Amino acid sequence: MASLQARPSCGYSDGWRSLLTNPQSAAPGEPSTGAPLAVAVRGVTKVYRRGIEEVRAIDDVTFDIRRGEFLAITGHSGAGKTTLLQLIGAMDTPTSGSILINGHELADMQDSKLTRLRRDEIGFVFQHFGLLPTLTVAENVALPASFGGKRKPPDVKALLERVSLQHRMTHRPSELSGGEMQRVAIARALVNGPSLLLADEPTGNLDSGTSERIIDLLQSLNGDGLTVVVVTHNEALAAKSDRRLLLRDGKAEG
Ligand SMILES: Nc1ncnc2c1ncn2[C@@H]1O[C@H](COP(=O)(O)OP(=O)(O)OP(=O)(O)O)[C@@H](O)[C@H]1O
Ligand SMILES: [Mg+2]
Repeated sequence: MASLQARPSCGYSDGWRSLLTNPQSAAPGEPSTGAPLAVAVRGVTKVYRRGIEEVRAIDDVTFDIRRGEFLAITGHSGAGKTTLLQLIGAMDTPTSGSILINGHELADMQDSKLTRLRRDEIGFVFQHFGLLPTLTVAENVALPASFGGKRKPPDVKALLERVSLQHRMTHRPSELSGGEMQRVAIARALVNGPSLLLADEPTGNLDSGTSERIIDLLQSLNGDGLTVVVVTHNEALAAKSDRRLLLRDGKAEG
């Protein structure tokens, strides 16, 4: 389990750190290990329907993620990993079952609250980076901070220093390597100071040396107190996690 001590050197908004000191009781039947729950997934099923065809992408999955934990979700292609990550990230809704983020039941939340939760508590790193090609690195990182009205401008320089890219602020994504683009995507996911970072195959398109750097960065962010969930096929990354969740045909094992 990663340390939950806040470190002063992180350099970006510390909104998520205050949550770490917020006591919250463990779910019924859960062993009390000290850290409260960041995510509770309870009997979640996701069925995609196209015409008469049904795909049960997630099938009655139950698990918890504690604050400060580093969880690796693994499984074969089509096992439901991206679907599960999108459900946890409140980007999609389950067909049945419930998901709680920081103790809040997503299904009970009004749209405006859900939007705030997504913006302020959850950082999402997409497999293919999802950077806007016409914006600079700094503008890409700042973009999510501009959603939802007046807010304090983010310290983009500090964020880019955190991912060792301060010298690339004015570059465009096409001028970056894959590893650099992934670091920009991570900086962007952190811009609103989330408590939970969700990353879909963050090393999926990278060579082993570049992957190692991303793995170190994710581990260091987790060491700063961020709860990290990665979907990965990368054994080196999964080996750094506190715990693994194996998905097989939509069902959770281990
Ligand atoms: N929007 C959708 N509509 C219909 N079926 C979908 C949709 N999204 C995913 N699926 C199906 O749900 C199942 C799980 O897909 P998912 O993308 O979650 O798998 P995955 O484990 O992330 O796979 P990969 O490792 O290839 O990324 C697959 O059978 C997929 O075809
Ligand atoms: Mg996927």
